[in-house]
Parts: sequence; structure tokens; C-alpha cells
Amino acid sequence: MSQLRTPASTPRTTDPDWWRNAVVYQVYPRSFADTNGDGLGDVAGITSRVPYLASLGVDAMWLSPFFPSPLADGGYDVADYRSVDPRLGTLDDLDALVRTAHEHDIRVIVDVVPNHTSDEHEWFRAALASAPGSPERARYVFRDGSGPAGDLPPSDWVSNFGGSAWTRVPDGQWYLHLFAPEQPDLDWENPEVREDFERTLRFWSDRGVDGFRVDVAHGLAKDLSTPYRPSDEKALPLDGSDPLYDRDEVHEIFATWRDVLNEYDPPRAAVAEAWAPAPRRALYARPTELGQAFNFDLLEAPFDAAAFRGIIQRNLAMSEQSGASSTWVLSNHDVVRHATRYGLPLGADTDAWLMTDGTAPALDATRGLRRARAATLLVLALPGSSYVYQGEELGLHEAAAIPRDRLQDPKWIRTGHTVKGRDGCRVPIPWTTSGPSFGFGSVAPHLPQPADFGASSVEAEDGDPASTLSLYRTAIAARRRLQQGEALTWIDAVDGSGVGVGGGSRVVAFARHDGWRSVTNFGADPVPLPSGTVIVASGPVEDGMLPGETTVWLD
Ligand code: NOJ
Ligand code: CA
Repeated sequence: MSQLRTPASTPRTTDPDWWRNAVVYQVYPRSFADTNGDGLGDVAGITSRVPYLASLGVDAMWLSPFFPSPLADGGYDVADYRSVDPRLGTLDDLDALVRTAHEHDIRVIVDVVPNHTSDEHEWFRAALASAPGSPERARYVFRDGSGPAGDLPPSDWVSNFGGSAWTRVPDGQWYLHLFAPEQPDLDWENPEVREDFERTLRFWSDRGVDGFRVDVAHGLAKDLSTPYRPSDEKALPLDGSDPLYDRDEVHEIFATWRDVLNEYDPPRAAVAEAWAPAPRRALYARPTELGQAFNFDLLEAPFDAAAFRGIIQRNLAMSEQSGASSTWVLSNHDVVRHATRYGLPLGADTDAWLMTDGTAPALDATRGLRRARAATLLVLALPGSSYVYQGEELGLHEAAAIPRDRLQDPKWIRTGHTVKGRDGCRVPIPWTTSGPSFGFGSVAPHLPQPADFGASSVEAEDGDPASTLSLYRTAIAARRRLQQGEALTWIDAVDGSGVGVGGGSRVVAFARHDGWRSVTNFGADPVPLPSGTVIVASGPVEDGMLPGETTVWLD
């Protein structure tokens, strides 16, 4: 075995499998805490809030990109992978954050964005300054155009943010970007690209970073010989023959990454953002590759017993098969917050709702939060790791009425102002009940916060046993004590109806280690509470009844 590298700073606990059952808190750095009064969250701000994360009881934090970036896509347009955006701090600040986190036994996961760079990355500048066919262009995907004059894009591929996936440069060639034009795609057949990313993985691992979240992991391998691709997502082949996504060749890249991650003690963890259909998603999570892949099924599911039950069963079966551990995600920086999704009528189109500034259809905010709390408590009882997105522990709703002239998401521009995009969940979180940015910083924040945000601040919720913050704290602490192994046993008749798993019951119940049970009533009406001691409940439980839209843990 080659010599294992010892990191600069290490967490107090040394379990190499820490990630299998971890609660991972996602920090969106620019919207977390601003210490130097420029309206933008910074690395020192995150460090100052590590004690808060410790009080929440999380095992790790995942930092969305903090690298130098012109911010064409919230930092997912990286200009330098081995540095810190000067507006957010310095490498020393990052080292201090990792050290402080480790002192609190919190691991740090860094976001790597390998599918594309920023158009301000030195490689892309060099590509533009060089001739067609040059080695500088060969790190990206440059092609001649189609049509007699070459003035049509090389293929009909569309960008995820709307419009063509090709942009023309002054000398007539076109380059590929699956996202914004400011995010040119790299060519992963080029060995120089592969070597550079291995260097990046080592760079952060050497600094003590504990793991990586891999952006658009399913997009790195492409078949450029196929110009046609159906624009209707439903018509896409899901068997690895799509020219752009989830191709078999991509796995060879991650097998190499695993070798790099295993050079460290403990091996660095990794989780793939891979929008691939369920059985193929498991491939990214194999122990010989990244170890985990995000399971986004709950982001797209309604608050419904059968939907949750099916998703849980499928994902647990899948991770058992691949040797991975499952992941659970209810919210992240790309979707409408789950308290809000669950408060809208079933099937509501959230993009259309945002275009009405959140007025139509009407949001039932109380119900949405009640359901969100129930869903969170259920998910925290599951084997595998739970990802918590900043602010969900405060029960925040989507900020749906951000003035149009303040929107930052490239989707807003690329869709000709027809889709607002994701800024509503990226608004700086409230720490205090009042102040110019509710404690986020000393001046107005880069994205405006709703006027009522203070009521959901850490200050308002801290110490209130009924608050969502208290629910998360209590549940995460109890989970730490209870969560052992990865076994789950379904209980199929808790509501006395005898309706079994997979049946029409509105109750989802399962037992974990040593008789610990989680019971969720997805229905509106109360059901009899099963016997046992209530360890934690997502809402008030009285008179031996489990109210509607409520989860309890029982011992
Ligand atoms: C997925 C990230 O989560 C999202 O925020 C970003 O826009 C795209 N990848 C492109 O990097
Ligand atoms: Ca700042």
C-alpha cells in the first residue's frame, strides 16, 4: 500500500465510515453570514457560526462553491479551483474554518465542479486567445458550426438554463456549455483535464477537507458524434446511450478519483450529484467510485404516504445492492424550499407560482411547515445520511417576492424573464429578529430578505421548545444516540387498519435499532398513537392520538 497522507487538521473522531449515517448541513457561503459588511456572506462568517452548527448537532458541513467566480451561476462558474474568492476571504481563512470545524468534530465537504469552468478561468481565456485546433482549445469542446456557412450551432443541444448549448466565438467556432454561456464545458477525454482535477482533489484533501460533493457528475463523458438529442426529456434513452448524460464511460473517471481519495487516512468521502434514473444512479455510489450519490426523489415527491414509502424502499434496496449508504434530501439550493412545496396545492407548478410573487395559488404556510417538520423527522429516522439545507432548520419558506431587478439566477435571463429560478431559497438566513439584514451582517444583503424573516430567526427560535430549530436539535441529538446499523423493519398495521406496507395506509411506520420506531401520519385526521414513550414529535401529541401530518419517534 502506498504511503497514506496525513491531513493538516483532523476531526476528533476518526471513524472512516463517518459519512454513512451523517447529518450534513449545506452552507451556501454567500448567504450564510457576512462579517466584513459588504452584504456578501464570507468564510470568516461561516467560522463564526461553527458553534451554532455544533449546537445543531450536525456531523458535517458541505460548502457550496467559495472559489473565485464571476458569479454567472452562484459560484458554480469557477475561475480557480484551488483558491478562495477574495470577496469571501483567503486560503488562511479556509484553513481556519476547517480547523474550527474539526475542533467541534464537524467534517467539511467541498463542492467540485468538473463539468465546466467559468469563462474567466485562465484555461478558457487561453482557449479564446488561441487558434482553432490548438491545445488550448482542446481542453474544452470547440467545434465548427453546421449549415453551409457554419453559422448554425453544431447540434441542436439545449442548455439547462434555456437556449442553445453552443455559443459562437469571433473566429466562427462554437463552444459547448450545458449551462450558461459563462460555463464552458471541459473535454474529459483530454488527459490534462483529468490530471488537473486530481490535483484539485489532493489540494483540498491535503488541507484537511474530509470529502467532496461532485457537481453534474453524470455529465462529464459525452458522445460528440451524435448531433441529435430529443429536447423532450421523456424521450431520452435512460440506458447510457444519451450523448450527454450518464454515459458508461463516466465511471472510469470516478474509479480514478476513488484511488486519489483513498490515498488519505481516513479516505476522503464523496457524493455525486448525478441526475440519473434510479438503478443507474447507484453506479456512482459504488465503493469503488464516489461512495454516495444524491437521491433527489423526495425533491420531486408530494407529501404522500405511498410516495414516501416507495421512495424509501427503492433507495434502501439500491444502496444495499451497491454497498453505498443512502442519502436523503428534502431541500437544497436548487429547489423551492420544502415547507413551501408542501403548502401549495398538489401538482402546483412552482415556477408559475414564483412568477406571481407567490400569490397564486395561495400558499398555506402553516400547513406547509407542519408537513415539512413531519417529513424531516421521518427522514432523520432513516438509515443513511441526511442533507439539511441552511435555513430549513428554521422552517424558512421560499422568498417568492424578490423584486425582479434583484434576481441573480441565470435562468431568469436565459429564459427571457419567464422563469425566476432559484434565488428564493438562496436569500441570506436570519440570525436575529431585527437589524438591517436580520443578523446576517451589518448592511443590506446581496439578495433582499422578506420583511417577516425575523420571526423565523435563530434568535426567535432559540430556546423555544416548539420551534423548528428545537425540533431539529432534539431530533439530531436523539438520532445520534439511536442511529445504528442500516436496518429498517416496516411496521404495517400501526393505525389499526391492518393496511400493510405498499397498501393505501396514510401511516408510514418502521422500526430501527433496538425497538426505536418512527411513525408518520400523512393523513389529515388523527390516528391512535402506538404504545411507547415519545422521544420526539414534529407537532403536539395528546390524548393517545397522533394528529394529522405529524411524525413521532417512539421508544
Ligand atoms: C448543479 C448545481 O447544484 C447548480 O446550482 C448549478 O447551477 C449546476 N449544477 C451547474 O453547475
Ligand atoms: Ca462579506
